Amino acid sequence: MNRVDGKVAVVSGGARGIGGATAALLAEAGASVVITDRLEADGQALAEEINGSGGTAVFLPHDVTLESDWERVMAETVQRFGGLDIMVNNAGVWGRGVIEETTVDDFDQLCAVNLKGVFLGTKHAIRAMRNRPATADSASIVNLSSTAGLVGSATSAVYSMTKGGVRLFTKSTAIEVRARGYNIRCNSVHPGATESPMQDDILATSNMSPDEIKAYMETRNLLGRFGKPIDIAKAILFLASNDSAFMTGSEVVVDGGYTAR
Ligand SMILES: NC(=O)c1ccc[n+]([C@@H]2O[C@H](COP(=O)([O-])OP(=O)(O)OC[C@H]3O[C@@H](n4cnc5c(N)ncnc54)[C@H](O)[C@@H]3O)[C@@H](O)[C@H]2O)c1
Repeated sequence: MNRVDGKVAVVSGGARGIGGATAALLAEAGASVVITDRLEADGQALAEEINGSGGTAVFLPHDVTLESDWERVMAETVQRFGGLDIMVNNAGVWGRGVIEETTVDDFDQLCAVNLKGVFLGTKHAIRAMRNRPATADSASIVNLSSTAGLVGSATSAVYSMTKGGVRLFTKSTAIEVRARGYNIRCNSVHPGATESPMQDDILATSNMSPDEIKAYMETRNLLGRFGKPIDIAKAILFLASNDSAFMTGSEVVVDGGYTAR
């Protein structure tokens, strides 16, 4: 189950957090993994760790907001590994702030990474995947949305706006690629609060004490804990693998039951 042997994957924002766990799990499941990120030292170290434990990974420096970077990443991926089977659009940034205090610069930064980055990743992944034969396993694009793309938030409306955008862009991509006859699937993953450097930042700016954070997590979702990056990575691996062959345009919620009530 959930094997991706011989497949080639790009994971944007793959140097740490959910992307890092995903890159390591895809490699463990048999893929050659291209880790891309702005964080060069972390990305390089993870690639070395994966290679050291018998997997195959390379790190490429990458700013997902720049189209020229995407062109370089895709060209190097195809040149090095011969194609692209799996694109994980994971790179994202978070932002807290009430709407009336949010600046246009804050807004542009969130949209540049969370929306433009996913658009460019999808555009260039489709170009690399579109000549795939109809009889092969489908290529798979997996986009990181959030529970914030499903329900509203009192503290991060613009972030929610970007993640809601990723949710519907995913569904439109799924429809469009089939209409154009491409053997590509596209699905979104919606994590709840998950332990990562991004979550550390969310908690650090929340003004909650450690005890308040613990109490908050115990009641926030049905399972009473934060997600771990590996919890999310397993859902991404499933969508990347042929075990999800009948899924496209779907949203997979991994949130400990947060959105169940
Ligand atoms: N952690 C959570 O609670 C949570 C919940 C829901 C959704 N998500 C989403 O999951 C994804 C991963 O989040 P995470 O918690 O691992 O965050 P993280 O901050 O730990 O990791 C995000 C990675 O993206 C990279 N990145 C940011 N901007 C970039 C850019 N312009 N170009 C290239 N790389 C860039 C960062 O350097 C970092 O390595 C994000 O899209 C996030 O919105 C996270």
